[in-house]
Amino acid sequence: MSSASIMTAPQHIQEQQRKHAPGASGDFSWLLTGITLAGKMVAAEVRRAGLNDVLGATDDVNVQGEVQQQLDVFANNALIHCLGSRGNVGVLASEENENPVVVRDSRDGNHGDEYVVVFDPLDGSSNIDLNVSVGTIFAIFRRDSADTDSPEKDVLKPGIEQLAAGYVLYGSSTMLVYTTGDGVDGFTLDPMIGAFVLSHPKIKMPEKGNIYSVNEAYADSFPTYCRHYLHWLKSGTDDTVYRSRYIGSLVADFHRTLLKGGIFMYPGTGIYKDGKLRLMYEANPIAFLAEQAGGLATTGFERILDIEPTDIHQRTPLFVGSRYEMEQLHAFAKKPPKV
Ligand code: AHG
Ligand code: MN
Ligand code: MN
Repeated sequence: MSSASIMTAPQHIQEQQRKHAPGASGDFSWLLTGITLAGKMVAAEVRRAGLNDVLGATDDVNVQGEVQQQLDVFANNALIHCLGSRGNVGVLASEENENPVVVRDSRDGNHGDEYVVVFDPLDGSSNIDLNVSVGTIFAIFRRDSADTDSPEKDVLKPGIEQLAAGYVLYGSSTMLVYTTGDGVDGFTLDPMIGAFVLSHPKIKMPEKGNIYSVNEAYADSFPTYCRHYLHWLKSGTDDTVYRSRYIGSLVADFHRTLLKGGIFMYPGTGIYKDGKLRLMYEANPIAFLAEQAGGLATTGFERILDIEPTDIHQRTPLFVGSRYEMEQLHAFAKKPPKV
């Protein structure tokens, strides 16, 4: 690839900004470089995980009640450091922190645009010791100018208010996939130049796929409509023979769904009645990307992006995928969602 044809993520964001917000201060692209920098730091650590002593669990349990992996902590610290130093981030909310991290608590109005970033620093961390793909998921909101007496209020916004969302996938290559509301673009980290280079412009999710992705170990406790739908997928009633793929890292399972189509499901289960995945930093960013690529994302009954959050760590059932498979699911759910 000649240097003339290279389009890096920051250049791309600048172009997006010029196109959509000519008057924007360039703050946004500067903010996104905080995420790409953290992504490169985590990628370097993940790629060497077997060599330096970062595998395995810590002695700590996070707010989710899950044992923290060492790389959860590393990734969390990298994001807080890289985003906290951007100068235009007011509040950070992480899966690994019970409460929001207030980067700047006084807003005298002279700070220009300020942003809120919510993130899952390392998604799929139970896979990290097994050399299976993991990821970082993020969403960016504007911080309201009106002072709020609690940072939670800055964070608790419905997914439709996301300015941008995306993920970094630490897989066979390291990819950044993000949207600012004008489609979905994918960038591959070129280790030779240390930059995320545009490799998947304007990703479109296939209208229909032939893969379904769900942890079938919990199938007996899925809602009835969901069990019926799963049976329908397997019975080949619509002349498609569906295959099952489940990696156990949301970012990897979604990335495949984004590129190949089909459906990913994490319904309510006997263990997690509202589903295991968290709304703010897993379901919302994934839903924004899915819709921007032409797919759908719902709870089975309600559009994910319309959910009014009440808690930073609240969970939600998540069904996300191609229009065809999602519409079939909604038919089984009998109450078509308001999408
Ligand atoms: P995290 O590692 O951030 O806690 O996320 C793990 C999530 C998600 O990545 C994946 O889809 C899901 O857990 C898998 O859950 P099960 O092991 O219950 O299938
Ligand atoms: Mn996760
Ligand atoms: Mn995580």
